Amino acid sequence: MASSTFPPITKAIFPVAGLGTRFLPATKAQPKEMLPVVDKPLIQYAVEEAYEAGVREMIFVTGRHKRPIEDHFDMTFELEVALEQAGKQELLDVVRSVKPDDMECIYVRQAQALGLGHAVLCGQRLVGNDPFAVLLADDLMVGPQPGRGILKQMVEHFAEWRASILAVQEVPAEHTRRYGIVAGNQVNDCLMDVNRIVEKPAPEVAPSRLGVAGRYILTPGVFHEIANQPRGVGGEIQLTDGIAGLLRREKVFAYRYEGKRYDCGSKEGFLQANVELALAHPQLGPGFREFLQGLGL
Ligand code: G1P
Repeated sequence: MASSTFPPITKAIFPVAGLGTRFLPATKAQPKEMLPVVDKPLIQYAVEEAYEAGVREMIFVTGRHKRPIEDHFDMTFELEVALEQAGKQELLDVVRSVKPDDMECIYVRQAQALGLGHAVLCGQRLVGNDPFAVLLADDLMVGPQPGRGILKQMVEHFAEWRASILAVQEVPAEHTRRYGIVAGNQVNDCLMDVNRIVEKPAPEVAPSRLGVAGRYILTPGVFHEIANQPRGVGGEIQLTDGIAGLLRREKVFAYRYEGKRYDCGSKEGFLQANVELALAHPQLGPGFREFLQGLGL
């Protein structure tokens, strides 16, 4: 059962072992999580969102060809020395801020790509018996204002409800096949007490149009449930099926977050993120806006 003695959320799992086939050939020799949106790789957005929410232990579930992610969060001694000697303090600060001193990065390998549930299970030993977050870097999430990231909003609700929380948004009926879809009883404007969750249902059988975005806060009981599920959709060990097991024993809430999600697992979403984040960028925004206006769209 969910306990009221849960500590705060300080650990997060980032499943990053996926092949990124939808972005080939860009992802032939580099992880999709390293694709930049404006000037930062996708994974850094997710890590910054977790850090802002109070997470300090970042657990990356990696696979082959994912070394650049490890390199990105390492200290780059030669680069720092070169920037220091050149007196480029601003760039030095940018490089150093990638990994604040109080943030720990831990890497665990997912030897076989058996699904998202399996990836989360690979983090079990590192998470132990604490509640934890899961962030899918493909989903770039932007809060309504600085300091109001989606995971931070979820952590605040976790502090109140002490139970698993899934970020959800309304999706078009024809897109239910892309998401875990939830149904349940409304608790208030933004929270639902979930009583059903189905992975990627066809629109005709989807229990609602509320789709899970790539942000989860989960209690450790979910590990046992994932481990005991048969293979699900696509022959994969699904996180959604583990959560379906969990909600038979504990409360699970769906939270309609404030903010925006860009599906950077798709080329359209990735391009939209680049345009909107470039427009919002303090230095690049004004010039880029002028450029777009010049296109006469
Ligand atoms: C995964 C999950 C799905 C969730 C989605 C959010 O699917 O399995 O339940 O709704 O992420 O992005 P994927 O996009 O990895 O196929």
